[in-house]
Amino acid sequence: MKTETIVILSQREIEKMRRAGRLAAQLLQHLEPLVKPGVSTLQLNDEAERWTQQHGAKSAPLGYKGYPKSICTSVNEVICHGIPNAKQILKDGDIINIDVTPIIDGYHGDTSKTFLVGNPSPKAQKLVEVTAECLRLGIAEVKPGAKIGDIGAAIQEYAESFGFSVVRDFVGHGISHIFHTAPDVPHYGIRGRGKKLRAGMVFTIEPMINEGTHEAQMLNDGWTAVTSDRQLSAQFEHTIAVTEYGVEILTLP
Ligand code: MF3
Ligand code: CO
Ligand code: CO
Repeated sequence: MKTETIVILSQREIEKMRRAGRLAAQLLQHLEPLVKPGVSTLQLNDEAERWTQQHGAKSAPLGYKGYPKSICTSVNEVICHGIPNAKQILKDGDIINIDVTPIIDGYHGDTSKTFLVGNPSPKAQKLVEVTAECLRLGIAEVKPGAKIGDIGAAIQEYAESFGFSVVRDFVGHGISHIFHTAPDVPHYGIRGRGKKLRAGMVFTIEPMINEGTHEAQMLNDGWTAVTSDRQLSAQFEHTIAVTEYGVEILTLP
């Protein structure tokens, strides 16, 4: 259960979030060249865990509410929280979201990207491209005085203009020394609605965009969320801070 109160971080805390965010982005950058046909999602997980420890950090997902691995690897119809597995081998034409959250000095950096494996179909590539742009457009709404609903509205408008849909069951979230806290940041919504943004708020924006229905289904492992129609889903995530002037992306390398 999330607390209702949205915390305003001090400059000292934002500095720690910058460090965690940079490390998270560098970890994704480190993993990117490994994303090739033939690699297993467990190999990606194990390299992420090794690199994270080597950099004096911990993997927030490992053991979080019982989650068994260090990163999430969500392939094709998996919306989010795919669990790395030795038997899951990437093949030409797949798309894979890798979501990482290292903790350093007590603070979390949460970021994800969807990568192309070899040569996916033009429609898959379009979905990935549109989803990246959804994140960019969501971030562009952020400034003091704007409303949380402005972010979702911008994302929904753009995604739906291509006939894609926005996942409802998973949202962005406040983040600091706590992994998931207030506010919820939906990737759909209405301009002018929701909480007002203030300098010092830190949260993620992480749109999940589907080819077909927005409806999600949970697999029996209790974690893996897939599209109900088994069509493709893509996602990109940044952790951002609201600044006096606008927005700072914390998860850049
Ligand atoms: N990193 C995911 C997010 O963006 C959360 C993963 S929680 C886990 O919020 F337990 F599945 F790892
Ligand atoms: Co994440
Ligand atoms: Co997140």
